Amino acid sequence: MMDQIEALEQELLAAVAAADDLAALEGARVAALGKKGRITEQMKGLGGLDPEARRSTGAALNAVKDRVAAALDARTAELKRAELSARLLAERIDVTLPARPAAAGTIHPISQTIEELVAIFGDMGFALAEGPDIEDDWHNFTALNIGPAHPARQMHDTFYLAAERDDGMETVLRTHTSPVQIRTMLSQKPPIRVICPGRTYRSDYDQTHTPMFHQVEGLVIGEDITLAHLKGCIEQFLRAFFGVENLKTRFRPSYFPFTEPSVEVDIGCRRSGDELKIGEGDDWLEILGSGMVHPKVLAHCGIDPTRYQGFAFGMGIERVAMLKYGIPDLRTFFEADLRWLKHYGFVPLDVPNMAQGLAR
Ligand code: PHE
Repeated sequence: MMDQIEALEQELLAAVAAADDLAALEGARVAALGKKGRITEQMKGLGGLDPEARRSTGAALNAVKDRVAAALDARTAELKRAELSARLLAERIDVTLPARPAAAGTIHPISQTIEELVAIFGDMGFALAEGPDIEDDWHNFTALNIGPAHPARQMHDTFYLAAERDDGMETVLRTHTSPVQIRTMLSQKPPIRVICPGRTYRSDYDQTHTPMFHQVEGLVIGEDITLAHLKGCIEQFLRAFFGVENLKTRFRPSYFPFTEPSVEVDIGCRRSGDELKIGEGDDWLEILGSGMVHPKVLAHCGIDPTRYQGFAFGMGIERVAMLKYGIPDLRTFFEADLRWLKHYGFVPLDVPNMAQGLAR
């Protein structure tokens, strides 16, 4: 009898040791200690033994039961540890890899706005033209029909540079992007369709003026360009730029020495207190200057005004950026305040481009 019990113990302990996952171990537990388990069955048989044998066999079976239970507990813990290790290995994250880095910088609203202008006008078939920040008197004024005694010179608050050119011509920091019109017409044959964004300079400083600011110039020259083209082009641009489908526009007669007729363009808005809403209401907001290129300007550039005509426009980039993005003070654009740049700056990967159009 005792031999049998010992053999049973060996068998049960071997089954426990052989279980290589928790489900198999549970099977071994039921087979040994369950209601119909091997030890339970043996216990049931004790009733048929005489008292002496019953006591010794019972004690032996209890001891086996305890040892098997202890082996089951030990094996359970062992398997759980192994299972956890396997999971940790499988779900391991390499913490030495850098997390996706937050963008360190942002795109300045001026850069963003210039990219928007380029994307919109590029889509309409305009090319990009550039000119120097340091201009000579002729390109900045005279060629644009602003003669030496013209009163418009006074209105430009011009920065004159100390150094004259070798030929004695006075040099200035360009007061507008219009000299790029001149350079473009001198270097290209019509048809011409360009925009010229860039820095401009005037000696002025308050909430809406800084000594350096940006403009974008537009120039279209062809054989049958009319004021209707000017109107359609500017309207289409303004609607795309402000993202207002039926934006109201108003074309008002105005005066520039280099355009005839000249037109100032307003967009519909509503003002209430400090708030300004574009595309609603009955108020008007001046947005840009434009007109049909003056015949004298064409002639200055060697373009026959009896054959060609065209339109031009000029717009302040800070001004439209302030309106579009709700930036109240122009001076803050150039203070390089990191808090301002974080707040008003743009995500580098969202900059508009010719392939994808405006980022929205
Ligand atoms: N150059 C003008 C300015 O600076 C704007 C303008 C450009 C007006 C082209 C008409 C045509 O105010």
